[in-house]
Amino acid sequence: MSRTVYVNGEYVPEEDATVSIFDRAFLFGDGIYEVTSVLGGKLIDFEAHVQRLDRSLGEISMDWPCTPEELLEVHRELVRLNNVVEGGVYMQVTRGSADREFPFPAETPTTLVAFTQARPLLDNPRVKTGIRVVSMPDIRWQRRDIKSTALLAQVLGKERAVSENAYEGWMVEDGYVTEGTSSSAYIIKDGKVVTRPLSNSILPGVTRRTLLHLMQECDVELDERLFTIEEAYAADEAFITSASTFVLSIVDIDGRKIGDGTPGPLARRLREIYLEEALKAAV
Ligand code: PDD
Repeated sequence: MSRTVYVNGEYVPEEDATVSIFDRAFLFGDGIYEVTSVLGGKLIDFEAHVQRLDRSLGEISMDWPCTPEELLEVHRELVRLNNVVEGGVYMQVTRGSADREFPFPAETPTTLVAFTQARPLLDNPRVKTGIRVVSMPDIRWQRRDIKSTALLAQVLGKERAVSENAYEGWMVEDGYVTEGTSSSAYIIKDGKVVTRPLSNSILPGVTRRTLLHLMQECDVELDERLFTIEEAYAADEAFITSASTFVLSIVDIDGRKIGDGTPGPLARRLREIYLEEALKAAV
């Protein structure tokens, strides 16, 4: 069934939605995106996605395409028009369409597109089985804190992970894990959750932000520091977070069993805590 999608102020059937071949996201990857999950027809962590979008746009001197209130309305209208109960909304802002020159084009309006993806998120079979991860060098640029649409390194990483029968790739730089190709990375050792502190080296995950806040409220100990892939092999538990997976346990990294090879108790509890609170705050 055809979706209704949003392009520059209009809601149109997906087959009629077009963007110029001169769009700068197409030519240069000159765009910013966000993915917000939908549960029970409501948006999860929306305000935090708006804040990160604002930051990403500011970092690359790109204008807001609309007001944050209008963006919320676009998200809600897409969810409504497509009857999405569970899934996500993808949105992308680009520096618009202009003849191919590297510098920013003058007075070119930004492009805004958004679409929904309906899919089961709560009933994910991977919650029970846990996921396999493979490590790989982090070959990305130095501003990974910006949620840029230039995702070639992550596409290559995810493809490699999938070809090696894994669900996610953990990228490693100078011996330390940075993050997953599309998720934040954590290990648990002696009851403490270890995750890399925010910097230009990783994306500030919205799910990470909410989870760390909830951990503090629930007295779960956090050790925000760099960790090596060898430490991860020896961890009691490991997990990822993202808007599309929430909290997902890792049972295998590079063919080495994590813990007893089944989803661990603390990561499972963190998933429950996250979902309970995120649902309460959903808009
Ligand atoms: N990816 N790190 C990277 C590199 C990511 O691409 C993502 C999200 C995250 C987790 O961020 P959040 O919790 O805000 O989803 C961390 C999205 C889901 C994607 O590209 O589809």
